[in-house]
Amino acid sequence: MIIAEHLAKNFQVKVGKGIFREKKSIEAVKDISLQIEKGKIVGLLGINGAGKTTTIKMLTTLLAPSAGTYFMDDMDAVKYPMEIKKRINMIAGGERMIYWRLTAYENLWYYGQIYNVPNSILKQRIEELLALVGLEGKQNIPVETFSKGMKQRLQIARGLINDPEYLFLDEPTIGLDAVVSKELRSHIKFLAQEKNKGILLTSHYMREIEELCDYIYILNDGCLIKQGTARELAADTFNRRNYILKLYEQSDDILARLDHNLRQYDPTTEVSGDGDCISINSSENISLELSRLCTQEGLFIREMYEKEPELEDTIIKLSKEVSA
Ligand SMILES: Nc1ncnc2c1ncn2[C@@H]1O[C@H](COP(=O)(O)OP(=O)(O)O)[C@@H](O)[C@H]1O
Ligand SMILES: [Mg+2]
Repeated sequence: MIIAEHLAKNFQVKVGKGIFREKKSIEAVKDISLQIEKGKIVGLLGINGAGKTTTIKMLTTLLAPSAGTYFMDDMDAVKYPMEIKKRINMIAGGERMIYWRLTAYENLWYYGQIYNVPNSILKQRIEELLALVGLEGKQNIPVETFSKGMKQRLQIARGLINDPEYLFLDEPTIGLDAVVSKELRSHIKFLAQEKNKGILLTSHYMREIEELCDYIYILNDGCLIKQGTARELAADTFNRRNYILKLYEQSDDILARLDHNLRQYDPTTEVSGDGDCISINSSENISLELSRLCTQEGLFIREMYEKEPELEDTIIKLSKEVSA
C-alpha cells in the first residue's frame, strides 16, 4: 500500500524584469495525504492548476517533496527513489514517450532495457503485453502509421513493461475519442481487478473518475478539499435523497396526495411527475414511509428505487463553494 502524508511542494521562480527580478516561492501542493491500495483505483480530481500533476510527480519520484512523508509497502520512498522507480510506472495522456520511427516491438524492447528486464523474460513479456492490448500482428510496423487508439494501447503496454505494482495515470484519456477512451477505461479496470495493480488516476473528466474510481480525492489550490467514494461525496455534499417511483396507475390527483402526505413527514419534500416516473426529493430517508404510504393509498408499485447522486453535480457545487 502507498501511504503519503502531508505532501507539499514549493517551486522557486524568478519574477519581474532586469535587476528587479526577485525570487518568489509558489506552493503548487500545500498539504496532500492519500493512500493507494493494490487492486484499487484511486482518483485525483480537480480543476486546472489544482496540483494534480505535481502530486503525481512526487509520487513517481520525479520531484522530491518539500515536506511530508511517502511510504510504499513500508519503504521510505523519499529516501529510496531508485527502489521505488522499479516498482512503478506512469502513463500520461497524449503521444509522449513513444518513438514514432520505431516499431511497437522496438519501443517495448527499448523501455524493457531501461528497466533492466532480463532479455529472456523481456521477449516473453513483450509478446504477452502485445496480446493484452490487442496489438499482436502489428508489432513490426512503425508506430507512425498507428491510429490514435493503437498508440494509446502501446502506451499501456509500455507502462506495464517492468510489471509495476503501482501505476500512475495522468489524464490518460485526454485527446482521445469516445470509443478509444472507453476501451482504455476498461483496460484500466482490468489492470486493477484482474492484475491487482494499485492505480492512481488524475482527470478533470468527472464521469471518468466516477466510473472507474473506488475512492476519490478532490484537490483545490494544492489542498485536499474532500475525499470519499463517489456516492459518499455526492451524498455528503447534497444531503438530499432522490427517489424514483413508478406506479401501475398515475394521475395528478395521486401526485398531489403523495406530495401532501410526504410533506407531513418532511416539509422540504418535492414530488414531481416526469413521464411515467414520479420523482421525489427529500432531506430524509423516506423509503419506508413511501412504501407505507402507497399501501395506505391503495397504489400498486411497479418500481421504486433511490437514485444515486451524480459526482458531476458534486464537483460543480464544491467548486462554487470554494470560489465563493
Ligand atoms: N515547475 C513549476 N514551476 C513553477 N510553478 C509550477 C511548476 N509546476 C507547476 N506549477 C504551478 O503549480 C500549480 C499546480 O500545477 P499542476 O500540478 O500542474 O496542476 P494540475 O495538474 O492540477 O493542473 C499551478 O499553479 C502551476 O502553475
Ligand atoms: Mg496536470
